Amino acid sequence: MTLSGSAKLAGVIGWPISQSLSPRLHGFWLAEHGIDGAYLPLAIRPEDFSTSLDGLFRAGFTGFNVTVPHKEAAFALAARHDKAARLIGAVNLLLMKDGVLEGRNTDAYGLAATLTQELGPDFLKGKTAAIWGAGGTTRAAITALAGLGVAEIRLFNRTPEKATALARAFSGKIAPKLTAAGYDAWSGKDVSLIVHTTSAGMKETPSLDLPLGDLAEGAAVFDAVYNPLETGLLRRARTEGLKPVDGLWMLLHQAVPSFEAFFGATPKVTPALRAHLLKALTNG
Ligand SMILES: NC(=O)c1ccc[n+]([C@@H]2O[C@H](COP(=O)([O-])OP(=O)(O)OC[C@H]3O[C@@H](n4cnc5c(N)ncnc54)[C@H](OP(=O)(O)O)[C@@H]3O)[C@@H](O)[C@H]2O)c1
Repeated sequence: MTLSGSAKLAGVIGWPISQSLSPRLHGFWLAEHGIDGAYLPLAIRPEDFSTSLDGLFRAGFTGFNVTVPHKEAAFALAARHDKAARLIGAVNLLLMKDGVLEGRNTDAYGLAATLTQELGPDFLKGKTAAIWGAGGTTRAAITALAGLGVAEIRLFNRTPEKATALARAFSGKIAPKLTAAGYDAWSGKDVSLIVHTTSAGMKETPSLDLPLGDLAEGAAVFDAVYNPLETGLLRRARTEGLKPVDGLWMLLHQAVPSFEAFFGATPKVTPALRAHLLKALTNG
């Protein structure tokens, strides 16, 4: 669509940014809704983040998604935060609201919407979930699972100290019981959902190979990694009769609140959108 002089502008800031699927995702919705607007990839170095942001807002941009390595810097710059950003300690959506820089985090929403779509709204209520990993995505996963009503979250990480520190950081802030351990303590007993949040399994790297045999009846496995779409972990889950849920759903759903905030329309996560993104993933 041709842009007018009053087109709404937004974008994603990262360094590097060429790998980002967000411009294709938002571009699909802009075309679908016939919106006079654009969503641009913005490659900005960490040392230029604050000044560039200021300049871009002055130039009339509505807001930005923020990705690696700027999520913590965005959190520090924002004067106001939504609840998810406060819990997660990182921001992936920056908006200027009445002259105040507001930081939000949509990753927990994206995971919660994915799990609700794929498993049903009550699947996790009162259940035990395990999270593998203790990084940025783990924080979003803890927030999402707490919001979905799980009774207990068990963290497992290669470096157990990081899992312990994360459990301590969330202590008293969420309702579910939260424990932390290393992979040597892994057991799937009573676990209804595994949420994998490490970078193992990306591209051609091997997935974590912890046993899946003793999970609760009807359990599911979510992998945040979406390239490849079916990771080694998800393949194993499928062959063991568990419900596999891929990370592409989370990527699609986490973009919904951002699009809404930038362009004022509520987009839908549809099979056509997923096919569009899958084509981009396959063709690079
Ligand atoms: N689907 C989505 O929408 C979405 C959104 C966000 C992120 N992601 C994906 O989630 C993954 C994690 O991202 P992140 O930003 O949270 O990363 P991060 O903060 O850097 O955390 C990395 C985690 O991975 C662990 N790890 C790395 N390599 C490992 C290996 N070979 N074996 C075992 N553990 C390993 C680290 O363990 P140690 O603590 O022991 O180092 C740590 O727990 C990435 O693949 C990213 O693409 C997907």
